[in-house]
Amino acid sequence: MQTSSKDAAIAIDGPAASGKSSVGLMLADDLGYLFLDTGCMYRAVTLAVLRRKVDINDEQAVVLLTKSLDLAILPPDGSKDGRLYTVLLNNRDVTWDLRFGEVDVNVSQVSAYKGVRRDLVRRQREIANQGKVVVVGRDIGTVVLPDAPLKLFIIASVEERARRRWLEQLERTENVDYEQILKDIVRRDRIDGNRQHSPLRQATDAIIIDTTNKSPESVLEEILALEYFQSIRTRR
Ligand code: CDP
Repeated sequence: MQTSSKDAAIAIDGPAASGKSSVGLMLADDLGYLFLDTGCMYRAVTLAVLRRKVDINDEQAVVLLTKSLDLAILPPDGSKDGRLYTVLLNNRDVTWDLRFGEVDVNVSQVSAYKGVRRDLVRRQREIANQGKVVVVGRDIGTVVLPDAPLKLFIIASVEERARRRWLEQLERTENVDYEQILKDIVRRDRIDGNRQHSPLRQATDAIIIDTTNKSPESVLEEILALEYFQSIRTRR
């Protein structure tokens, strides 16, 4: 589907493992838009903190490190390993390293730091300003792109979210503990939703899409049937 440049940004937010990245990518592909998953940026900073053995409780050191990082998010470029995009951290491919349990456990603490958010939001807006883009995260509709013409808030039951993450991880490794994943998702939602700076919130003008018991394809269909896309079609 073709859209005009006025319809430049679509903001997608939602809690952990709600399916927002898969649906965001499918939507971007369908529209011919860029796809930006901002979660991978917070994950990349967390990976750098862990690898460089920076004290995660030292906010100033974490912010300084964030500002120094060379971060690039590229299309998967033919990689057939199931990745949605490729992430380069200081020119090294860290796409799968971002999914390590240790990153999951620590990412919400790093994301709560104001200086980290300020630096990453600036980078996100630079990318979004380049043109038609689907941006996925926690604060896209509320903070990063408050003027986005379409905002979606993707939800699913916590059990379904944990089951999806469990299945995803089973494809890459054998030792996957559903109960642990469930606990981690609940914990991350609590920290992300209660932090002082840019907590996970549904924008007042966002449309809620519940993906529980729905396939990604049917969710995409539901989104494309929204009034917003009908009006774009008639304007063409
Ligand atoms: O894929 P999943 O939903 O599990 O997480 P993600 O989107 O990769 O985000 C990982 C973490 O980054 C979240 O738990 C948040 O702490 C943080 N995040 C954020 O604070 N703001 C964003 N715009 C995106 C992610």
